[in-house]
Amino acid sequence: MSTSRFRALRVHENDGTMSARIEEFSPDDLPAGEVLVRVQYSSLNYKDALSLAGNRGVTRSYPHTPGIDAAGEVVESADGAVPPGRAVVVHGYDLGMNTWGGFSEYIRVPADWVVPLPDGLAPREAMAYGTAGYTAALSVERIDRVLRPDGGAAPDGPVVVSGAGGGVGSIAVAMLSGLGYAVTASTGKADDAKARQRLTDLGAEEVVDRDAVAADAERPIAKGRWIGGVDTTGGTILAGMVKAAGYGAPVTCCGLTRDAELPLTVFPFILRGVQLYGIDSVQTPIAERRRVWGRIATDLRRLTVESAVSEIALDDVPEVANGLLNGSHRGRTIVRVAASER
Ligand SMILES: NC(=O)c1ccc[n+]([C@@H]2O[C@H](COP(=O)([O-])OP(=O)(O)OC[C@H]3O[C@@H](n4cnc5c(N)ncnc54)[C@H](OP(=O)(O)O)[C@@H]3O)[C@@H](O)[C@H]2O)c1
Repeated sequence: MSTSRFRALRVHENDGTMSARIEEFSPDDLPAGEVLVRVQYSSLNYKDALSLAGNRGVTRSYPHTPGIDAAGEVVESADGAVPPGRAVVVHGYDLGMNTWGGFSEYIRVPADWVVPLPDGLAPREAMAYGTAGYTAALSVERIDRVLRPDGGAAPDGPVVVSGAGGGVGSIAVAMLSGLGYAVTASTGKADDAKARQRLTDLGAEEVVDRDAVAADAERPIAKGRWIGGVDTTGGTILAGMVKAAGYGAPVTCCGLTRDAELPLTVFPFILRGVQLYGIDSVQTPIAERRRVWGRIATDLRRLTVESAVSEIALDDVPEVANGLLNGSHRGRTIVRVAASER
């Protein structure tokens, strides 16, 4: 395919009303950068839906092309580390926020935003993980480094994952279980047989109602029951997790679907040495980002994650993004951008 004309999803604002449509562009329309990537797949995230809806906390000015995730092939490059023909993934930093993003057949980005895909992980599979999977990997990896500093078998005892039905949580369940941990999935859908089954299929040994995890937040410190925790919700759920964490247990914090407030005491830290780690997927330094993708392609890789995605065309993004905003959307969705040209 020639790069002279290509398709991208463009969001416009007109008197406060947002509209999105596919338009044709040329490479001259793209921002400056060292690497031109032909995007084969992207994925749909809540942040993309916010950008499409005109949320100024995500995107300051329009017209704009969203898409915080992109995977494809390098077409032109001024950096030997990511030569033409290399399969790559790009996400985070400013991609899709105020920089032209992955809902476009081509992107142009700084070389130090680009992760060469490890052998064996194709762009489509990479997007089954996307930012959600990368955030799950950062969280799981952090816990795993504390609990298995020298590798070997996973220690006994449950690791709890909250928001387990969501994008980050469900991939964290699969990755932890793949490493041999006994995973307890905390969810608001513990009464829903289908949701329980999905979590069990991903590798959860136990599925609990999130209120049971949050209940431990009511005391200054609770009986230690978790050897580790991945939290995606914040609020009383994260507080309950920290207060019921065992001696020296690592707990990660990446999200706020429950609450941004954190009602904690110092007791879990000063009496049990509990370790609370912040997780940020956006500004991770590139060397660390490339290392973690290396683990996603190897010991954190889970085929159950890759087979559980639905795929849509670029043209379908606005409608499916609406479902994300009104809560009717389920599971992870990857976006076919220029894949038919492979
Ligand atoms: N730090 C970072 O770099 C980073 C990166 C990506 C995402 N995030 C954040 O991580 C969080 C999860 O992202 P995601 O992509 O997994 O989102 P998601 O797919 O929308 O899933 C969110 C899950 O959170 C749970 N949830 C929703 N409302 C809740 C409430 N009121 N109380 C308790 N739990 C609730 C639900 O889990 P159940 O279905 O199990 O009930 C839901 O499925 C978000 O806050 C997101 O902004 C942060």
